[in-house]
Amino acid sequence: MSKHLARRDFLQVAGAVVAAGTMSIRAEAVSPNGKLRTAHIGVGGMGGADLRSISSHPMVEVAALCDVDSNRLEEAAKAHAQAKKFRDFREMLAAMGDSIDAVVVSTPDHTHAPAAMSALSANKPVYCQKPLTHEVFEARQLRLTAEKRGLVTQMGIQVHSAAPYRRTVAMIQGGAIGKVSQVHAWSNKNWGYDGGEFTNTAAAPDNLDFNLWLGTAAERPFVPGVYHPGQWRKLIPFGTGTLGDMGVHIFDTPYDALALTAPNWAMTTCREPTGVGHPTKNKVEYEFPGTKYTTDTMRWTWYDGGFAPPKDLKLPAELGIEQLDLPGQGALFIGEKGALLLPHVGEPRLLPENRFTDYKAPEIIAANHYHQWVDACMGKGETSASFAYAGPLTEALLLGVVANRFPETKLEWDAESLRITNVEAANQLLKRDYRKGFEVAGLS
Ligand SMILES: NC(=O)c1ccc[n+]([C@@H]2O[C@H](COP(=O)([O-])OP(=O)(O)OC[C@H]3O[C@@H](n4cnc5c(N)ncnc54)[C@H](O)[C@@H]3O)[C@@H](O)[C@H]2O)c1
Repeated sequence: MSKHLARRDFLQVAGAVVAAGTMSIRAEAVSPNGKLRTAHIGVGGMGGADLRSISSHPMVEVAALCDVDSNRLEEAAKAHAQAKKFRDFREMLAAMGDSIDAVVVSTPDHTHAPAAMSALSANKPVYCQKPLTHEVFEARQLRLTAEKRGLVTQMGIQVHSAAPYRRTVAMIQGGAIGKVSQVHAWSNKNWGYDGGEFTNTAAAPDNLDFNLWLGTAAERPFVPGVYHPGQWRKLIPFGTGTLGDMGVHIFDTPYDALALTAPNWAMTTCREPTGVGHPTKNKVEYEFPGTKYTTDTMRWTWYDGGFAPPKDLKLPAELGIEQLDLPGQGALFIGEKGALLLPHVGEPRLLPENRFTDYKAPEIIAANHYHQWVDACMGKGETSASFAYAGPLTEALLLGVVANRFPETKLEWDAESLRITNVEAANQLLKRDYRKGFEVAGLS
């Protein structure tokens, strides 16, 4: 039986049992040697790690590399001499056409949606770094487009597939601590900036195409050490602060374990907005509608930067826990029968320990998050963090990022109509205008 025939058989069988949104790519799209030909957008920093992890799958052939920084592009190309090199992902997608099968997006946050939507629109499955997008509207549009086209997708939250996180989901859903009423989650990282506009502008280095780096964002002069690499996270037009950066990892497990949907509201405690950077410390409270794993409603509170780990955490008296040493990053679930502490990254602990001496945690086998996506693209299995999952998770997180522009104001959320119902001005922050010349169909 030919490989294509086998794949088609799979599609027919899978079609009966698997939701359309998780289907594999078209069988005929794979290269003549049966390999998945990947194109990588952003190959330095995390993009380099993504490239190594995805290309470690024996069925992957790296066909194209794209980066706006020629130093980073050349460095990545050393291990992939056969790959075509590009600076502009739009040119890459147009030039490579049917000679690539799938696309990996590992750029700064503001370029996730433009790059991922361009790839989806070309019918390519996508692996996209977290948080899925920079704006709420973009997350909705990516999810809908991937679903409509039936393309395999995965968000780059690799710990989602790690054993401690999967074990926690099994423990919570198995009722280890009963129905959960509250989750506290925190990161002591600080991806914020409380200062004003930057004045020390300079020419961008020759290796960087800063115009392409800005992409959809408004034009501005280059400032050394402020945008590229990595530091963009702190700034409103490019990053999503610590909540978007670390919250997406740390809230992923509670979101998954408790089968949460869209929040009812979000409210942030932080400094007044400056219009430049995300606050260096945030406390964000959310209320979610109840699910079968929670009480009638579920409270999630996030603490970051100088507010983390939380110092004023009041644990319910019935837990009998006087003092709890909290790791620098993690999540604490509070349920009817006890609590579960999940350090980031580490094994879950049930509390108070003397209540759980006979408890046997489920055995869990970790998955390879990257290979899972490659396999799903090749028609084998499904991804665990497809855009159907990652889209709503990202929307919820980004609502908190919007809320930090309206401190101490509860933003009431109507997810279905994608509207904040009580603060009209906040709706302006759900979607941004793309720069002229960088518009993307479905997003602009
Ligand atoms: N999953 C994780 O554990 C994890 C860890 C770190 C970063 N990340 C995510 O990875 C992404 C990148 O973060 P980073 O720390 O590597 O940032 P970075 O700034 O260090 O690297 C980004 C890379 O993308 C390139 N790039 C920028 N704009 C581009 C464009 N328009 N086209 C092509 N290439 C472009 C840059 O030159 C650079 O090589 C972010 O979304 C971040 O949230 C995820």
